[in-house]
Amino acid sequence: MRIDIISIFPELFGPTLSGSMLGIAERKGIVEFHVHDLRDWAEGKHRTTDDYSFGGGPGMVMKPEPFFRAHAEILAQDLRPATTILMCPQGELLKQPLVEELATCSRLVIFVGRYEGYDDRIRTLADREVSIGDYVLTGGELPAMVLTDAVTRLLPGVLGHDASATEESFSWGLLEYPHFTRPASFEGLDVPDVLLSGDHARIAAWRRTEAIRRTAMRRPDLFETADLNDEEREFARSLLEDLKRSDDR
Ligand code: ADE
Repeated sequence: MRIDIISIFPELFGPTLSGSMLGIAERKGIVEFHVHDLRDWAEGKHRTTDDYSFGGGPGMVMKPEPFFRAHAEILAQDLRPATTILMCPQGELLKQPLVEELATCSRLVIFVGRYEGYDDRIRTLADREVSIGDYVLTGGELPAMVLTDAVTRLLPGVLGHDASATEESFSWGLLEYPHFTRPASFEGLDVPDVLLSGDHARIAAWRRTEAIRRTAMRRPDLFETADLNDEEREFARSLLEDLKRSDDR
């Protein structure tokens, strides 16, 4: 996959993209990151990328021309079909199914805005608009890094263990089961016996049950779309009923 990011602060991306798993993924040739300075497509001595808002009001707006020029030039650098994503708080919320969908693309081009927002015509270049949550950041740089990280780690060969991505939080539509490592006993806190049993079927069943229990306690809303069989759904329902009863007490 090739990921192009267009921002007025390209230097913010360095350590995130070159360190840890993302850097390893790029060095292995699984992904290519290209971070561009939007100002390279701006005009004038000051290479201005923002301007006043027509109609008045506070705050500056990102000008359309630099994004249009940058987009055309960057698309032409590689013939693979690209999905263009505009980071903004008004976009579709980034959740794991969207991350999984984006991980199947061969190219992503990510627009990163600052100031009050984008001239609305810039949106015509985007296939999707994506938000990382219902809060407003000073710019789309951190959201672009979040999206890039979430997508890259799903690319085949990036995670050390292929099962890591399929057994984690959200991939079953549930929160993840609890994990433990050595020592088996620590300050009076013991690892559940079943995990030391070596019985893989029992361990898998325990993990599934605990993932459902944790989801019931923390994110019961996820049950609406979780992938559960009839027995598991009944178990989730009884857990929620118990929780409600203890809340009422
Ligand atoms: N830019 C500013 N806030 C944002 C958010 N929550 N998601 C995506 N882009 C943003």
